Amino acid sequence: MKTLFEFENVCYRYPGHKQLALRNVNVCFPEGEKIAVVGRNGAGKSTLFLHCNGLYRPLCGRVSFRGRPLAYDRASLKKLRQQVGMIFQNPDSQLFSASVAQDISFGPLNLGLSEAEARRRVLEAAEICEITHLLDRPTHSLSGGEKTRVALAGVLAMQPEVLVADEPLASLDPWMRLTFFDILQRFYDRGKTILMATHNLSVVRYWASYVIVLQEGQVVFSGTPKALLTNRTVLEQTELSRVWWKVDPGFDEDEEERVLVSTPSSAESTDGEGKSFQFSADGDWSI
Ligand SMILES: Nc1ncnc2c1ncn2[C@@H]1O[C@H](COP(=O)(O)OP(=O)(O)O)[C@@H](O)[C@H]1O
Ligand SMILES: [Mg+2]
Repeated sequence: MKTLFEFENVCYRYPGHKQLALRNVNVCFPEGEKIAVVGRNGAGKSTLFLHCNGLYRPLCGRVSFRGRPLAYDRASLKKLRQQVGMIFQNPDSQLFSASVAQDISFGPLNLGLSEAEARRRVLEAAEICEITHLLDRPTHSLSGGEKTRVALAGVLAMQPEVLVADEPLASLDPWMRLTFFDILQRFYDRGKTILMATHNLSVVRYWASYVIVLQEGQVVFSGTPKALLTNRTVLEQTELSRVWWKVDPGFDEDEEERVLVSTPSSAESTDGEGKSFQFSADGDWSI
């Protein structure tokens, strides 16, 4: 596995706060994978993500991207953010232009692309994210889910190498969740990497190819979904078992092999390795 991001002994504390939000984080994010990041509220998922595009700088330790420690000067950050697209947990922090079209075109124009090419990318991204009808709307007038779709379009228009999505499912309706996973699949099929913070068991079981678990600012697990879902110690220590066993009766210690066996479904799609992915769009298994 090639490493995309490496965190080495990373600590972070929010200004004016005593507690560390990240405590000696050592973890590698593999390239070309679908990575789920899980953990309770306040575990540090968003803080970790905001280190990936250099918005936050470690208090100690370092973050590397493709083998090179991040540099925090303007030019390096601009280059990094062209490659690492981010959908914030709260899309209100993301959209700042007057209209949707302006917001999506901001990135491509900032890349130095021509107006015509930027326009082409805006229209393409808007069509993929099903927001063509919203292009002339003021961003402040959109619903939460519409804002998330606009944020996604803004990221796709940049054609990044990595998509970092911070709990995107929370604001999307079941139909848009299906579309969202189709978009992610196409992105992944082109060899790109996705990081997604989620509480959703079916996303971990059927979508992710790699999982990172955070607890109180520390990475307590990184590995395959199967390794996590059969690791009773980690599941109990993090209390994931309390919520996940409750929502999925098939998830039993005596039948570990069942854990990743897929269920036939009409909504099924298959990833590159033939592993089935059945996403419950109505959030059945969400916690
Ligand atoms: N803007 C902020 N100012 C101060 N503390 C913060 C801020 N954002 C997050 N924190 C704290 O940092 C820790 C990690 O938070 P966060 O990364 O948002 O967790 P998660 O995304 O897993 O819910 C929590 O203790 C949280 O209260
Ligand atoms: Mg968060």
